[in-house]
Amino acid sequence: MMLLQGKLIIIYIFIVIINADDELSLQCESKTDACTDKTKNTYTIAANNASIELLPVTVSIFLHILVSDNVLVVTVATSETDGFNRYLQSAREYRIQPTILGFGQEWKGGDDIKRYTGGGWKVNLLKEHLQKFKDDKDKIVLFTDAYDVMFLGDLRRITENFKLTGARVLFGAEAFCWPNEDLASKYPKSEKGKPYLNSGLYIGYMPEIMELLERKDIKDTDDDQLYFTEAYLDENLREKLKFKLDHESQIFQNLNGASNEVQLHGDGKEHEIKLKNVLTHTEPLIIHGNGPSKIRLNHLGNYISKAWTPDRNCKHCTYGLINLTNVESADIPTVFVALFVEQATPFFEEQLLKLHAQEYPKERVHLFIHNNIKYHKDHIKEFVEKYGKDYFSVKEITPEDEISEWAARDLSLDQCLLKDCDYYFSVDATVHLDNPYTVKLLIEQNRTVVAPLLVRSGKAWSNFWGALTTDGYYSRSDDYMDIVYNNKRGLWNVPFVSSAYLINGTLLKKFDRTKLNYIRSNYDADMAFCANLRDLDVFMFVSNRLDFGHLVNPDTYDITRAKPDMYQIFENEIDWEERYIHEDYAENFNPNKTAKQPCPDVYWFPIVSPRFCKDLIDMMENFGGWSDGSNKDSRLEGGYEAVPTRDIHMNQVGWERHWLYFLQKYVRPLQEMVFIGYEHNPPRSLMNFVVRYRPDEQPSLRPHHDSSTYTINIALNQKGDDYEGGGCRFIRYNCSVVETKSGWVLMHPGKLTHYHEGLLVTKGTRYIMIAFVDP
Ligand SMILES: *[C@@H]1O[C@H](CO)[C@@H](O)[C@H](O)[C@H]1NC(C)=O
Ligand SMILES: *[C@@H]1O[C@H](CO)[C@@H](O)[C@H](O)[C@H]1NC(C)=O
Ligand SMILES: *[C@@H]1O[C@H](CO)[C@@H](O)[C@H](O)[C@H]1NC(C)=O
Ligand SMILES: *[C@@H]1O[C@H](CO)[C@@H](O)[C@H](O)[C@H]1NC(C)=O
Ligand SMILES: *[C@@H]1O[C@H](CO)[C@@H](O)[C@H](O)[C@H]1NC(C)=O
Ligand SMILES: *[C@@H]1O[C@H](CO)[C@@H](O)[C@H](O)[C@H]1NC(C)=O
Repeated sequence: MMLLQGKLIIIYIFIVIINADDELSLQCESKTDACTDKTKNTYTIAANNASIELLPVTVSIFLHILVSDNVLVVTVATSETDGFNRYLQSAREYRIQPTILGFGQEWKGGDDIKRYTGGGWKVNLLKEHLQKFKDDKDKIVLFTDAYDVMFLGDLRRITENFKLTGARVLFGAEAFCWPNEDLASKYPKSEKGKPYLNSGLYIGYMPEIMELLERKDIKDTDDDQLYFTEAYLDENLREKLKFKLDHESQIFQNLNGASNEVQLHGDGKEHEIKLKNVLTHTEPLIIHGNGPSKIRLNHLGNYISKAWTPDRNCKHCTYGLINLTNVESADIPTVFVALFVEQATPFFEEQLLKLHAQEYPKERVHLFIHNNIKYHKDHIKEFVEKYGKDYFSVKEITPEDEISEWAARDLSLDQCLLKDCDYYFSVDATVHLDNPYTVKLLIEQNRTVVAPLLVRSGKAWSNFWGALTTDGYYSRSDDYMDIVYNNKRGLWNVPFVSSAYLINGTLLKKFDRTKLNYIRSNYDADMAFCANLRDLDVFMFVSNRLDFGHLVNPDTYDITRAKPDMYQIFENEIDWEERYIHEDYAENFNPNKTAKQPCPDVYWFPIVSPRFCKDLIDMMENFGGWSDGSNKDSRLEGGYEAVPTRDIHMNQVGWERHWLYFLQKYVRPLQEMVFIGYEHNPPRSLMNFVVRYRPDEQPSLRPHHDSSTYTINIALNQKGDDYEGGGCRFIRYNCSVVETKSGWVLMHPGKLTHYHEGLLVTKGTRYIMIAFVDP
């Protein structure tokens, strides 16, 4: 008989290997649709490298078959949650096939097992299920909760460790005596580890398990943990059943109150990141995020159970992906994009354009805008006028509607439901989606809630939190910086996301809006929403599998300024550069090109954008305090200007610091390239100003030297379009630059050789920006 069984096993292994792509279906008790659907979970053996993995796979399947016949793994889950899917995924990783009880049924184990007691129903379901196996005296029963449990090892190791404990029934242990603290004193003294029983994870032989389950009746709404605790505290029964607790986590790791016991371990040599209990020096095989430790489990779950391997392969990133390529346009999911403008935000015009540039059919997009800021009304108006018709629908809520942020966010969810949206995409004014495929990629990721990682450039400020304080505020996880700086790339289950996130429309339909909303005590809208999602056990993922975009920083944005974005060169350098630096600036440094030199030692470079020119002129004209062109100048130390112009100094419009930074960052490298050997960093400049020439005011400037080592002169508007005449003549060389180009800078030595004059403007107004560098 033994021999025959051995042969059968070998044949079976053979079949399993041949049919490696076949489905190992899960057993499911209830025959609802959801349940049958759920059984279609494919496990592809050795997907990475068949030839290498075949041997270990063979051995492990062999052992798996040897033990799995003998072990019945049972769980209770009524519906498919993110946690349940994670549980099943971890089971698949270790070829465990749990039997799911209660699926598709109404939960009968008490109203809110999270905060109160309950769960007797689990005992009753298991008792009933085991009836048909109860005569199999050698069978081992492993019960686990589902929504907050993950497997970290296979059944062979689990049963091995079980047998080593000498117990016939083994329950997980935890740090708290729950639900009845008074029972703590009745526990036998345990030397090491966690003292109290937890009923979320246990294992035992059939006869002892049956005796335990049938010891007395339990109501569905009674507390299962109390039920088993009372049995354990009965000394006679404890001895008789060889009923023990896994104090040291040989198998079971309950996390509540024990978060510091566990650490992740893994180097490039291992195939997976392991969870180690550093207190007891064990490697737990099943983990349970009981009570408030769910958030910690979510964090660990990003790595363990082969989710993310030491060679930085994000395995769990690739589960359940959707592919939108080649989907018929009528079948492209509809997306409800909700844009929230809740504070004055720099570079908002670009934000809108990037949102519009998303590679997604606009006729499948509903656009909802909540604008709370009067300053941005024109931006939105212009955008909607120009592009609104491309969208399926556009709805705008204006500042005059006086709708608060949370109410508007709530309203947008209602609107999404009303429009029967497939997806809801929330995006704030601060979010720049630089990657035009962001929306598509997030949909394809197929998670209930998923956010693209967005970070303020050069800062560690992002749109997710890695951990929470006990009162629900920000706390930094140990991998936070690695994720923010993309040292680790993947898909991360986190307790808080904001700024931009995609929600699967099925979630909105699943939960009552009294539970899924933006309201919660004194939390702000984002915190409230995430707290509510956490309470519903909905996972929030943030992805940095690719670069998606960045956040602008609105903290110092001062809309009392005439052109507030011009002042954002420090806080939002990348956006500033994108808007204000000439598109050909980088070409100045192309070694294959020689710098333009219209006159001897006068160089000419494209440096700022048309928008810069326009905004700088507007800043000056808005200020309006042009000097009178006389020699008396109270702005100067001596109060006297030998060669006066009509001008406004940068410090008069509060832009001096910004200008000096611009000089250092964008002008200095050009200077060092053409006047080799002269290096003054940072450049110094006391005289920085915009000059206005016009026929009826001051049309020209007499020959003079500048008090500078070198001078820069940026043309801010265009000859022919804006004025006639003008230019700069270098007298020693009898050489003039008259065809000046808006946005280009002239750079020339200030003294001795480059005696120069400003040529006559005959019509219109000419503006130039001047700095005397290193006087
Ligand atoms: C599988 O492993 C072999 C030998 O190391 C290697 O040459 C081959 O490229 C691998 N194949 C894949 C798909 O990784
Ligand atoms: C998308 O995710 C859901 C939930 O995990 C899953 O049931 C579904 O099969 C996934 N879709 C695809 C195409 O894998
Ligand atoms: C999606 O499908 C297209 C062709 O239908 C294929 O070229 C592409 O690689 C697929 N994308 C992914 C991520 O599998
Ligand atoms: C998202 O919604 C689609 C239907 O619109 C569904 O097929 C898919 O399984 C859902 N995915 C998740 C993760 O809920
Ligand atoms: C400069 O020219 C060389 C040779 O033609 C070419 O290989 C190189 O890419 C060019 N560099 C740039 C920045 O265009
Ligand atoms: C200066 O240049 C102009 C035009 O290029 C020429 O007409 C004039 O004669 C020159 N003057 C001197 C002094 O060379």
